[in-house]
Amino acid sequence: MTAAPAPEGAAGPAGGRTAPRHVAIIMDGNGRWATKRGLPRIAGHKAGAEAVRRTMQAAADNGVEVLTLYAFSSENWKRSSDEIADLTGLMRFYLERELATLNKEGVKLRLIGDYSAFGPELVARLDRAVEHTAKNGRLTLVVALNYGSRAEITEAARKLATKVAAGEIAPQAVDEDALAAGLQTNGLPELDLLIRTSGEVRLSNFLLWQAAYAELMFLDKLWPDFSEQDFADALERFAARERRFGGR
Ligand code: IPE
Ligand code: IPE
Ligand code: MG
Repeated sequence: MTAAPAPEGAAGPAGGRTAPRHVAIIMDGNGRWATKRGLPRIAGHKAGAEAVRRTMQAAADNGVEVLTLYAFSSENWKRSSDEIADLTGLMRFYLERELATLNKEGVKLRLIGDYSAFGPELVARLDRAVEHTAKNGRLTLVVALNYGSRAEITEAARKLATKVAAGEIAPQAVDEDALAAGLQTNGLPELDLLIRTSGEVRLSNFLLWQAAYAELMFLDKLWPDFSEQDFADALERFAARERRFGGR
């Protein structure tokens, strides 16, 4: 059940800011969007890429500090080689086309996930985009590529285990902060709001640790139909929610 949206600028329970600092989105439904129109899946992914542009703009305009987008999961390798090639082709195209826009809009690109799997050519382009936007400060756009949350947590645990085995830290030093510091999201503000489009109600191995106290929103809209207004509406619904963090 959704509470009525709070009036604009309403203070949260602690009287603090009600705008989320960090929003993440599971951008789902591209394939169904295309199928509904009798189009190939790639057409849905193209339309989905346009939704990314709109959402990035909406996030920047609404003062969100970090927007994290699930673009390719570590399980998406199960798809056909044709679809994977289409997706990587689109990534390449948009990276080139949008780099100037990222700089114009003050967007800093950051990547999570093991994107080395996409091959040296795309990796070089991705690294270049990260470098070329490193000084921007209006919005951080985190793109999850070949990302899987369980692998991320496992890797963080492995790094700590290695340090303990080497006698660099005591087992007692393995605490939540130490583990979080080993995650790829290290240094980003806490995740406040996690949105998934397309009507599916699951996390699909995305930000499992980070979402511990995030507000979750599952929308029926398919990702290519997601608009700036949908983003603004989600922020309003977020502002109306009471986050208790286990308190009362
Ligand atoms: C999300 O849309 C994009 C990726 C996972 C890359 P889908 O391709 O999963 O679309 P549906 O879920 O099949 O409609
Ligand atoms: C999650 O969507 C991954 C991305 C949006 C990149 P999927 O379409 O892959 O998730 P499942 O298979 O429905 O869980
Ligand atoms: Mg899907």
